[in-house]
Amino acid sequence: MTAEEVIRIKNLYVSLAGTPVLEDINLTVYQGDFLGIIGPNGGGKSTLLRSILGLVKPDKGEISIAGGSVEKNHTLIGYVPQYAVFDRSFPIKVRDVVLMGRLAKRRGRFYSRQDYEQMERCLELVEMQELRNRPIGDLSGGERQRVLVARALVADPIILLLDEPTASVDSHFQATFYELLERLSKTMTIVLVSHDITAISTYVSTIACLNRTLHYQHNKELTVEMIEHGYNCPVELIAHGIPHRVLHAHDGVVG
Ligand SMILES: Nc1ncnc2c1ncn2[C@@H]1O[C@H](COP(=O)(O)OP(=O)(O)OP(=O)(O)O)[C@@H](O)[C@H]1O
Ligand SMILES: [Mg+2]
Repeated sequence: MTAEEVIRIKNLYVSLAGTPVLEDINLTVYQGDFLGIIGPNGGGKSTLLRSILGLVKPDKGEISIAGGSVEKNHTLIGYVPQYAVFDRSFPIKVRDVVLMGRLAKRRGRFYSRQDYEQMERCLELVEMQELRNRPIGDLSGGERQRVLVARALVADPIILLLDEPTASVDSHFQATFYELLERLSKTMTIVLVSHDITAISTYVSTIACLNRTLHYQHNKELTVEMIEHGYNCPVELIAHGIPHRVLHAHDGVVG
């Protein structure tokens, strides 16, 4: 494994409750990649991210993170989950949510000055510093997503995994959110799961399609085979929304 491979997955099989969810997944993500993963509901996208984080135990296969095991190196990964549940009646503040991302790094009972500095830096990065003392439950969906990105970034990860981060936010917020990701992608590796195929094709550097098996070619081509493979991928969006450079011309779809 060379130093530039930050995620390497070989022959990965995962089943949940006895049902195969991921089959023979092979994927190498290089430092600085911005990988978009598309695929139908239930295709296994969240399960793949959770496997990379070590939250799901594979049936077989190997995953390495920055050349080491998941157990050893999962702390190099920041994660924005698909569903983050906050009890609205529990008044935890934005700043404390972000600080929670430092828990794995904290030594002793208290946060250090560095923990607080990092928290401030990350809130600034996502432009949420002014809301730092607000209860998280009072934020809009879009604001909350930004806080979750700050929480994912606060431990200085080299990889950021995001699972449908813009599913519940409006188009204006989506645009600024993707601009944030584009900025972040200059200094880190990003894996973004999204159904927003227009955004994916605009911002990412490589695209994969997951429907139990993974179609991936380490470039930005979204091939007909990938769409057919993940046949539930939103083909009408691909036809209308995707920039021409991503698709070759083929029957039935404007290229
Ligand atoms: N804890 C679980 N136990 C049993 N089956 C599960 C569990 N979690 C997920 N599954 C199943 O595994 C399959 C893949 O789920 P997963 O959440 O990874 O899909 P996804 O691609 O993220 O879907 P979506 O686009 O809806 O988020 C689905 O069929 C789902 O029902
Ligand atoms: Mg999912």
